[in-house]
Amino acid sequence: MAFATRPLVRAASSAAATAAAKKLIVKHVTVIGGGLMGAGIAQIAAASGHTVVLVDQSDEILKKSTKGIEESLKRVTKKKFADKPEAGAEFIEKTLKNLTTSTDAVAVVHSTDLVIEAIVENQEIKNELFKRLDKFAPEYVRTIFASNTSSLQITQLANSTTRQDRFGGLHFFNPVPMMKLVEVIKTPMTSQKTFESLVDFSKAVGKSPVSCKDTPGFIVNRLLVPYMMEAVRLFERGDASKEDIDVAMKLGAGYPMGPFELLDYVGLDTSKYIIDGWHSLEPNNPLFAPSPLLNKLVKEKKLGKKTGEGFYKYK
Ligand code: NAI
Repeated sequence: MAFATRPLVRAASSAAATAAAKKLIVKHVTVIGGGLMGAGIAQIAAASGHTVVLVDQSDEILKKSTKGIEESLKRVTKKKFADKPEAGAEFIEKTLKNLTTSTDAVAVVHSTDLVIEAIVENQEIKNELFKRLDKFAPEYVRTIFASNTSSLQITQLANSTTRQDRFGGLHFFNPVPMMKLVEVIKTPMTSQKTFESLVDFSKAVGKSPVSCKDTPGFIVNRLLVPYMMEAVRLFERGDASKEDIDVAMKLGAGYPMGPFELLDYVGLDTSKYIIDGWHSLEPNNPLFAPSPLLNKLVKEKKLGKKTGEGFYKYK
């Protein structure tokens, strides 16, 4: 038995050494979480020729995700192939052929180059998922793990696995098919090869990657969230109305949306979750101070556009 297993172990570790030496070109992608972000990521990955498995908790959710992707593809092709409807139909067919679904991430992780996690923003649930997947994507398989988290530390997620060198952040923006940016996050343990594979993948799906260390909010949210919170504080002090603050930032700063419109669009619960998390990391940082008004609105379940009321009312 010992004679039979030893060559196998040697073959596995030599495969591991070869794998570590080469940059991985991502072809097969597993996206976990078929919600707002995951469905968008699956769509652009499939549209750019990757084979994609989209994973969620039930077939019912996945059916909804796939329907959303089909509708989004129709919108995209209507614009892109305005003069060539046949080419548009072919593009949709090809994209959908690249896309399959599953309710079992463990069953598909073996044949995956890159796992992109886009499930609920909860440290324990994400850690538990990565820990489970790590067990089934053995050491000698090169599979890279990436998280789309907006506010959690990539390093802490990576620490739930044994593949810290093959773990990074891929932070897409909402709505994914429209927004050109991806923030590629490198922790102190992410290998240069992994980082390069993530940058190459971002370009392959038609995005413009920027790189950032594993710091709260990365680049965009680190600037955007404190800006929105400062707008709330300005309003809380009674210095200006929310309507005037929104008009001022649109007409004076050239922003497409005012901070209160943006807060309602993002979701007040999401914004509160982010600021509370950062506040607990750095309690003395005034940029991360919680807002009594934001907390009150969330308590009243006025979460923004999605619930019909936040700072503004929606029909
Ligand atoms: P969502 O709530 O729309 O979708 C999450 C999906 O994950 C749901 O379909 C849920 O059923 C599924 N899910 C939950 N636990 C699961 C598990 N253990 N296994 C498989 N599927 C599971 O959330 P959304 O907005 O798509 O966010 C996902 C991630 O992307 C979060 O980490 C969030 O912080 C991040 N993000 C969100 C942005 C946004 O504007 N909504 C922007 C950028 C990042």
